Amino acid sequence: MKQQFENYTAEDFKVWKTLFERQAKNLKDKSCKEYLDCLNELKPVLNSESIPRFEELNRVLTNQTGWTIEVVPGLIPVADFFELLSKKKFCSSTWLRSMKQLDYLEEPDMFHDIFGHIPLFMNKAYGDFAQKMGQIGMRFKDSEEVLIELQRIYWFTIEFGLLKGNKPMIYGAGIMSSFGETNFVYESGVEIIPFTIEEVVKTYFCNSEIQTKYFLLDSFEDLYQSLDRYAEDLAGL
Ligand SMILES: [Fe+2]
Repeated sequence: MKQQFENYTAEDFKVWKTLFERQAKNLKDKSCKEYLDCLNELKPVLNSESIPRFEELNRVLTNQTGWTIEVVPGLIPVADFFELLSKKKFCSSTWLRSMKQLDYLEEPDMFHDIFGHIPLFMNKAYGDFAQKMGQIGMRFKDSEEVLIELQRIYWFTIEFGLLKGNKPMIYGAGIMSSFGETNFVYESGVEIIPFTIEEVVKTYFCNSEIQTKYFLLDSFEDLYQSLDRYAEDLAGL
């Protein structure tokens, strides 16, 4: 599948610009520095002025990291998703929410997939972590138990992870791409606990409810090391 750039409407461009500008401003003092650095590095091909052309974005991303955006029709089976990750391919949709849906989404759209997820793939430790998740997923694709644990790891890191800083800083794409959720993280009633992979694999999540529990990570290097240890433990079973 390919992005059909000519099919985007004037409203699509307006939605992209509105979301990008609002969230870039909102994230300035809330997103981890790594994300902001990556976003800045991608600025020539990822900015508020235009819906990004995946071809251009891939040219920079693949050249520098080996990662590629893979267009998918929507949510795909878990095993396929992990297989793509293991090959350094990250799935993205190409559709965009409407002006009326700025703050509500049932399924991830391109703003979530691209603005939320893609920049951090420019960070080596983060990219290595994501690829390793894919490799573990492939190796244990017949183990329902491991796949559930991996989905939990994915959920509480790549989607909803927080990183240590002056205050908990956002790196999860589910928060990054949502104006409401970005601010919700700092409200009372939210539980932020230190990241340990042992705790994460035991933690249930529901993808249709707002997240109230977040895991706070020391660094992306730590994240990779944790996953490495987890994989070693699995191999020893
Ligand atoms: Fe996502």
